[in-house]
Amino acid sequence: MPTLRVMPMPSDANVHGDVFGGWIMAQVDIAGAIPAARRANGRVATIAVNSFLFKQPVFVGDLLSFYADVVKVGNTSITIAVEVYAERNRLQADTVKVTEATLTYVATGEDRKPRQIPPLEAIEAFSAGK
Ligand SMILES: CC(C)(COP(=O)(O)OP(=O)(O)OC[C@H]1O[C@@H](n2cnc3c(N)ncnc32)[C@H](O)[C@@H]1OP(=O)(O)O)[C@@H](O)C(=O)NCCC(=O)NCCS
Repeated sequence: MPTLRVMPMPSDANVHGDVFGGWIMAQVDIAGAIPAARRANGRVATIAVNSFLFKQPVFVGDLLSFYADVVKVGNTSITIAVEVYAERNRLQADTVKVTEATLTYVATGEDRKPRQIPPLEAIEAFSAGK
């Protein structure tokens, strides 16, 4: 299941009429933050964009699906890989991979300082109401 699905509008286009890279980066950051915050069991801040590849252009009206997965968990940081696919013509199911990126998020407390990532078992127990 995609973490996020969104369709760019004309206001998201650059001067050439294709979708502005900064808009795509913002959506990737949002998509990556979702599994990061889940794994951190709380707020996270983006500390680094480790890699970002715009493989194919994105057009206004494409239906974009963002797949975001945890690839590494450190003491206070979580690294997420995000892949973005565009359905260009939904009637003909013409789908292409347009972007891939890796980002690192840091779990932060109310004081905005790094905090330890809780063990997975603690989150699962909390979710199960134990
Ligand atoms: C996020 C923040 C609180 C971290 O504080 P910090 O003192 O810089 O953090 P640290 O140096 O202790 O590093 C924290 C973690 O990030 C990792 N990290 C630091 N620099 C990194 C980099 N360039 N790339 C990847 N990971 C990095 C560290 O390895 C550490 O991970 P670990 O604990 O799992 O080993 C602080 O940098 C900050 O507030 N940055 C601004 C965040 C922001 O505004 N983001 C945009 C909007 S969300």
